[in-house]
Amino acid sequence: MNDTTSPVLVAENITVRYRKGRRHFTALDNVSVRIPYGTTVGLVGESGSGKSTLAKAILGLAPIAAGRVELLGQDITHLTGKPRRKLGQTIQAVFQDPNTSLNPSFTIRRSLIEPLKAQNMLGEIDVDARVAEVLTAVGMEPEAASRRPRQFSGGQRQRISIARALITNPQVVVCDESVSALDLSVQAQVLNLLMDLQRERGLSYLFISHDMSVVKHICHEVTVLYRGTVKESGPTQLVTTQPADPYTKALLLAAPIADPVLQRQRQRPTTPVSTTI
Ligand SMILES: Nc1ncnc2c1ncn2[C@@H]1O[C@H](COP(=O)(O)OP(=O)(O)O)[C@@H](O)[C@H]1O
Ligand SMILES: [Mg+2]
Repeated sequence: MNDTTSPVLVAENITVRYRKGRRHFTALDNVSVRIPYGTTVGLVGESGSGKSTLAKAILGLAPIAAGRVELLGQDITHLTGKPRRKLGQTIQAVFQDPNTSLNPSFTIRRSLIEPLKAQNMLGEIDVDARVAEVLTAVGMEPEAASRRPRQFSGGQRQRISIARALITNPQVVVCDESVSALDLSVQAQVLNLLMDLQRERGLSYLFISHDMSVVKHICHEVTVLYRGTVKESGPTQLVTTQPADPYTKALLLAAPIADPVLQRQRQRPTTPVSTTI
């Protein structure tokens, strides 16, 4: 389905509560995001604001107390078992730590084909051709397939994690702090890769980060989360140049800036800041 007008993913009025002893803790309260086809929607907020909880709610890994999740028009809010697993053909995720997707003792090939196994796709396609295709797509040599994670740098491992997410040909990728553990220059390379892949494959991203400078670089729209509630949302350009909420302003001031001249300007509070990394 390539309907470019309706959103590929909608999370509407999501509330998630965790049990803490005999009490309940509301990790997300009435949070909504909507991702139009082929775009990147950012979710930004400090540690503990509920970003990963929304990712997990969408992926069926957190208890949704209220609200609705729709993927390509299908209500998936409470989908479990086999129908939930089948969604791996449509939606995949890339996390901060490549070790979550790349087992250090497995070859890259073995880790890459796990999502295909989960989808019973091993018999349907030329697996080695698909492995070579996704590795090439993320700028790696096909020969990487026979190596192990420790033979690669952090940036390369994250490229391989992206390849793994792409192997089922999904339309939506949830990136949860996917570049946060990388050095600034490597972050920029991986962000550029994600943008290239979006153009080539019509991917849509939910892009989660605590870092506004990263969000500014890649997101078309952004939602600002604070203690489980939405502070503001809108086009990135607007939210980052005319933030409506003081919390957004604080996040913008906290964002690292690679350019030392801009870094100096920012120390004068009256100077408006506009940067990319
Ligand atoms: N499984 C869980 N059980 C109880 N509390 C949780 C659980 N997962 C997350 N939380 C709490 O929910 C809040 C939001 O966490 P999280 O979504 O991981 O934030 P973020 O990704 O923005 O750092 C935090 O206070 C965290 O301690
Ligand atoms: Mg998180």
